[in-house]
Amino acid sequence: MVKDQETTMYMAEPIMDWILNGIPEPVNVKLFDDVGSIYEAQLAKMELSRWWRDLEAFRRRCAYFEEVNGEKTFHYYISNIRGKGQIGRTNQYLTHWFYPYKAKFHPQMVKALINWMGLRGEDRLLDPFVGSGTTLIEAKTIGIDSWGVDINPICTLMSRVKCELLDLTTEMIKEVPREKVFHYFNRKMRGVLGKTSNLELYVKNLENEPKLISDDRVYCFYQLCYLYALSDYTYIKKPLWEGFNNNLDAILKTVEKFQDLKQKLDFKLGNVKVLEGDARKLSEMFPREYFAGIITSPPYSIAVDYIKNDLHALSYLNINADTLVKDMVGLRGKGDERIDNYYKDMRNSFKEMNKVLQPDRYCVTIIGDVTYKEKKLPIHQKYIEFAQEAGFILDKIIRRPILGGYARLRYEYVLIFKKISDAD
Ligand SMILES: C[S@@+](CC[C@H](N)C(=O)[O-])C[C@H]1O[C@@H](n2cnc3c(N)ncnc32)[C@H](O)[C@@H]1O
Repeated sequence: MVKDQETTMYMAEPIMDWILNGIPEPVNVKLFDDVGSIYEAQLAKMELSRWWRDLEAFRRRCAYFEEVNGEKTFHYYISNIRGKGQIGRTNQYLTHWFYPYKAKFHPQMVKALINWMGLRGEDRLLDPFVGSGTTLIEAKTIGIDSWGVDINPICTLMSRVKCELLDLTTEMIKEVPREKVFHYFNRKMRGVLGKTSNLELYVKNLENEPKLISDDRVYCFYQLCYLYALSDYTYIKKPLWEGFNNNLDAILKTVEKFQDLKQKLDFKLGNVKVLEGDARKLSEMFPREYFAGIITSPPYSIAVDYIKNDLHALSYLNINADTLVKDMVGLRGKGDERIDNYYKDMRNSFKEMNKVLQPDRYCVTIIGDVTYKEKKLPIHQKYIEFAQEAGFILDKIIRRPILGGYARLRYEYVLIFKKISDAD
């Protein structure tokens, strides 16, 4: 890790000066034009501070820069692979758009944080509340191995598929005709919709059939593609076949563009492993000090009912939502009891994150404001308390304004903790 006088020279530049007047010589880099907020400039500066001595490596991995030494960055090309509904450069690029999911975090922010942590080579990164897989996709594109854990099987499926798509080719996906694939997955839906008299037997028979597709990555991809259509059908009444077909066309374009990009640029992609599991029990899943970094956004307490959004998909996959809720952080109990449970669960999760992280390494949690009974809950302060109890020190806080919902200004906090080493 680089930390010397010259590095601090760049860190000491006022951030507003960066935004208004660009970056001081002698570093020849250009920020993306849409880097306009203070928190982004802060993150841009943090990632550069770690890598400015090796600008060629930085060109391959940076998040907020369009050019390095007069050449376009890898992120410029990656974020040009635009997904459905993408506005600007910031969130829906590559496979990030594939499957609707609320409460994703900003991919660029995650990438900049990985860079600032200085992860490289054999280092392993963990996201214990992986959700839709944002962390894993970003780690993969810069050649860092990563692990994701989530209690919800829909999340592990989507995280896995969105990463594996980066290894697949359009030929592999097109091997089985799409009509046949649709029919294969749709038969089960017919059962779920009650078009059969004995649903249990019907589903069991389907499950005992040989799989239509032998490559498990392609099979899971199509399963998610079908669930995507099911979501469109559930929420906007788009006919299933139309949704399936449109999304498949769109994702094939993404895969094709990334295939071309891999030929044009010399990518080293990281390995990804996704596990269904409980973030409160990480030390049962991984050896102590297994990871060189953690980046995660735990559930926002009572703010988003992750299960409710996925009921259609859970029922399709025969997963009992009531059983699942019992282990979901932020959804256990009602009213005040739910808040107490949330704090208890997060306290345990911090302890577990501390156990599986190497000393002197960083654990970043991103958490937003939540209002309950018209009062703002002190969640980020609670996180700081839990983290310190677990053996971390607070290294930095970055506050990100969010305009959304009813256009009220809220904040999200990027809390950067460092694990205390035995020497501290
Ligand atoms: C805010 S979301 C994460 C979003 C993610 N950062 C992204 O970009 O998609 C929180 C996730 O925590 C998961 N979760 C809830 N309880 C959990 C538990 N006990 N163990 C692991 N994951 C859990 C939820 O299923 C949800 O996917």
